[in-house]
Amino acid sequence: MKKDKNILCIGAGYVGGPTMAVIASKCPDYKVTVADIDEKRINAWNSDKLPIYEPGLSELVRNVRGKRLFFTTDIAKGIKDAGIIFVSVNTPTKTFGEGAGKAADLQYWEKTARAIVEHAEDNKIVIEKSTLPLRAAEAMHRILHSNTKGLDFDVISNPEFMAEGTAIDDMQNPDRVLIGGMETASGRKAVERIVEIYAHWVPRERILSTNVWSSELSKLVANAMLAQRISSINSISALCEKTDANINEVAKAVGMDSRIGPKFLKASVGFGGSCFKKDILNLVYLCEYYGLPEVAAYWEEVVKINDFQERRFVKNIVKNMFNTVAGKKIAVFGFAFKADTGDTRESPAIYVSRMLLDEKAELAICDPEALDNAKRDLADDKGKFEFVNDPYKCARNSHAVLILTEWSEFRKLDYRKIYASMEKPAFIFDGRNLLDHKELFKIGFNVFPIGSTKFTHLK
Ligand code: NAD
Ligand code: UGA
Repeated sequence: MKKDKNILCIGAGYVGGPTMAVIASKCPDYKVTVADIDEKRINAWNSDKLPIYEPGLSELVRNVRGKRLFFTTDIAKGIKDAGIIFVSVNTPTKTFGEGAGKAADLQYWEKTARAIVEHAEDNKIVIEKSTLPLRAAEAMHRILHSNTKGLDFDVISNPEFMAEGTAIDDMQNPDRVLIGGMETASGRKAVERIVEIYAHWVPRERILSTNVWSSELSKLVANAMLAQRISSINSISALCEKTDANINEVAKAVGMDSRIGPKFLKASVGFGGSCFKKDILNLVYLCEYYGLPEVAAYWEEVVKINDFQERRFVKNIVKNMFNTVAGKKIAVFGFAFKADTGDTRESPAIYVSRMLLDEKAELAICDPEALDNAKRDLADDKGKFEFVNDPYKCARNSHAVLILTEWSEFRKLDYRKIYASMEKPAFIFDGRNLLDHKELFKIGFNVFPIGSTKFTHLK
């Protein structure tokens, strides 16, 4: 196979695995290899139990793996063989030094650049798939051109907009594909080669080419604006609880304005996921770096409201359970940061659980997909908590049930049976407004939704 039809992706995570599975399935004329330093992860990609859960992913992988999709730890060979290299390594928030707590930690990113310099034997196109700060492509370009082999590289920004839980569908039917390139003859040619890949299944009018900086910044801004909508509606949910307005009604009325639109206005215990907070803080850092403190403060508030919402949820639990949860069993329904994924990174459930453990509550945690990750998340936490597969067992003898992830499974449970097995008075705190609150109240529960009046039998 010719090198320009040979794709390598460095980083076999939530983005690298699914994006490459989609490219391999849609582009029979390409060979796609996904490489990672994590041997366990690669072994899992080569097994029947993939390292991540995503609806539709295993079928997709099963159809193309071993034919035109390959997973390997041999990064050096992958680099040598490929003409096109996607980089989708993690870019977490820096925890040390200059910019700690806000800036992106680019060490994994830089290591891949250096590996490419070391192993490349000919010219290549290198694509930023990871979310990176503005001007990262420029840094990548400099590192790549520090090679002493006379090689030339084109660096392209092609951020990923898929959401977990709907990753495969998002990638198969994207709103847009964004491809940012350098404004040089060779840069434009490289963009065209990446456009060719996506044009196998994405209509041309949805493939957007920009300059590389606009592409990098658009990714951060898209995430910041999505998170901003959630913080906006969550801030109003607090006001609703004080005033008898109903957040679902407000969101519907506001969202029916076609200029505003209905999506991402669902009030919740808070947004989670590996990216919203990290990418907003990265944007905040960039604004500070470029001397724009007012702009930085504006965006930082989106994260602060999210922290406020998580804290407010826990305060509400403690206050309404007679100002103490010490020694009380509390059932946590859902640990994933959203439904249809096993991912728990930055999940509100982590923070809510920790605050409740500080209050000496005894937690039973259930989740259809996320218990392995939940165990890892709480491995160093002190206090009494257990992980239970069966929600009925999880709720038995508990004083309260918390809905922290909007799994449809939780909607289908028999809440009469659950109520009967619980201590009384029994509470439900629905952090996702998932359940039928009036029905639960009729059963006997004291029900606390987000952003609307509570239903309580307590006088
Ligand atoms: P992840 O942590 O799941 O995967 C990253 C992988 O990169 C890991 O398997 C790690 O072992 C590997 N890696 C790190 N350094 C390496 C190196 N030097 N060589 C080879 N492999 C290396 O991360 P993710 O969720 O896939 O995110 C990757 C990037 O994509 C991030 O920048 C993120 O912001 C962005 N992004 C994520 C999502 C999402 O939904 N998770 C969506 C859009 C964009
Ligand atoms: C988000 C973006 O939606 C993707 O476009 C982007 O590619 C990705 O981040 C990324 O860069 O990582 P993701 O975090 O996977 O995707 O999931 P979302 O559906 O955006 O949900 C994020 C969080 O917001 C979840 O905790 C979810 O429960 C919460 N949420 C979402 C709400 O509380 N209310 C809403 O109305 C929508």
